[in-house]
Amino acid sequence: MKFFIDTANINQIAEAKDLGILDGVTTNPSLMAKEGISGEKEILAHYKKIADLVDGDVSAEVIATDFKTMVEEGLRLADIAENIVVKIPMTKDGIKAISFFAEEGINTNCTLVFSAGQAILAAKAGATYLSPFVGRVDDINWDGIALIKEIVKIYSIQGYMTEILAASIRTPLHIVQAAKAGADVVTCPLNSILGLFNHPLTDIGLAKFLEDHQKLNK
Ligand code: G3P
Repeated sequence: MKFFIDTANINQIAEAKDLGILDGVTTNPSLMAKEGISGEKEILAHYKKIADLVDGDVSAEVIATDFKTMVEEGLRLADIAENIVVKIPMTKDGIKAISFFAEEGINTNCTLVFSAGQAILAAKAGATYLSPFVGRVDDINWDGIALIKEIVKIYSIQGYMTEILAASIRTPLHIVQAAKAGADVVTCPLNSILGLFNHPLTDIGLAKFLEDHQKLNK
């Protein structure tokens, strides 16, 4: 399973990259706004900064909601760097745009996915990645990981090539569950990735090793 970080924050991306486990980055308009990035020139420059920082794919989301403008915007995003993936919402115009980009050989990430039916549409359109939102499904007391499992099963039966990118990850447990469910990629906030390190027995064990060493090597 590939690890992507879900942020537009350069420092957090760099911290995850330094661990040597980072395979890519996903952003969305809310994450870009959180960094105070506004205006087309500044937005494109920030995506370039992220794309230059990492080797893996970087998802940059269109703002347009109509096909024609989605295509125009997506082409500008794809021009930024080889590793830019055009992120497009699960709508009729979005699926039409994904189909267009698939024909053009431009990678896409179909986002705001909440059902197996939507997942089938995205695969049929030729999306490179599919982003089912695990956390937001959990937020309404449904089962986000069950959605990942359902999509994994359908994609396997049908031989769809779209990569399942578990998104809206909120906890380290979500990462483990997404791996068990067979997700191809998980995109997480930095704190969920760092949370994977935490176990009290590791801390206790390391302290004991050092204590025993110190006793003989004062
Ligand atoms: O970027 C898409 C997704 O990861 C958003 O997550 O936590 O805002 O539901 P969240």
